[in-house]
Amino acid sequence: MRKPLMAGNWKMYKTAGETKSFFEKFLPLVAVATHADVVICPPFVNIPAAVEATETSRVEIGAQNLYWKNEGAYTGEVSGPMIFAAGARWVIIGHSERRQYFQETDATVFQRTQAALACGLNPIVCVGETLAEREAGATEQVLKTQFEVGLGSLAPEQFAKITIAYEPVWAIGTGKTATPETAAEAHRFLRGLISAKFGHPQAVQTRILYGGSVKPENIKGLMAQPEIDGALVGGASLDADSFSAIVNF
Ligand code: PGA
Repeated sequence: MRKPLMAGNWKMYKTAGETKSFFEKFLPLVAVATHADVVICPPFVNIPAAVEATETSRVEIGAQNLYWKNEGAYTGEVSGPMIFAAGARWVIIGHSERRQYFQETDATVFQRTQAALACGLNPIVCVGETLAEREAGATEQVLKTQFEVGLGSLAPEQFAKITIAYEPVWAIGTGKTATPETAAEAHRFLRGLISAKFGHPQAVQTRILYGGSVKPENIKGLMAQPEIDGALVGGASLDADSFSAIVNF
């Protein structure tokens, strides 16, 4: 059985003080939620505040990106070992906003994923098609390429540590959620790719999260799909009431 994972992607929101206030309110609301793993990914500078605030809870902290070198003259970048040393255990890789605004590619997704695994971080690797790609009937081809180039060359023991997030770009921050059926169809396709590459037992184990306008109002319907193993939540993870409602779906 795959345990659900509910991950919050805070993007470029909240200060350290706001991070602390969030957890003061959020932690009591999810104190009895053992049915799901819970991860929050704040901006880099607020990882220490988030780690400190969640020390005695089951909530784990992640970063939103990493660079693939451990150290060096790469102004403005942050490495996996730095993130791990700050107490985070997860990292989002290849988010569509990184691909869209910061020129990330499937090839750099692969480099980042390898770097994350090498230092003990659990990667949440994002894939998903744009509206134009969906309308052109290219969804499966896009997912296949993202999977094969971004993850397909990992060793099986590396792939075993991966969580995938299916995030259709047209659903992110737009209020347009994929229907549970549309999301599940993409998840089934991805699970088929995992099965073909890494074998059926691995395909059964890999968690595939859905992301894109997940809200307290639609989480139940999404989680009713056996193919959907949790959510990567942007906007609705910024508020303790709404993210706890999602965790406690
Ligand atoms: P959203 O973002 O929930 O605000 O649509 C999801 C994401 O970008 O991971």
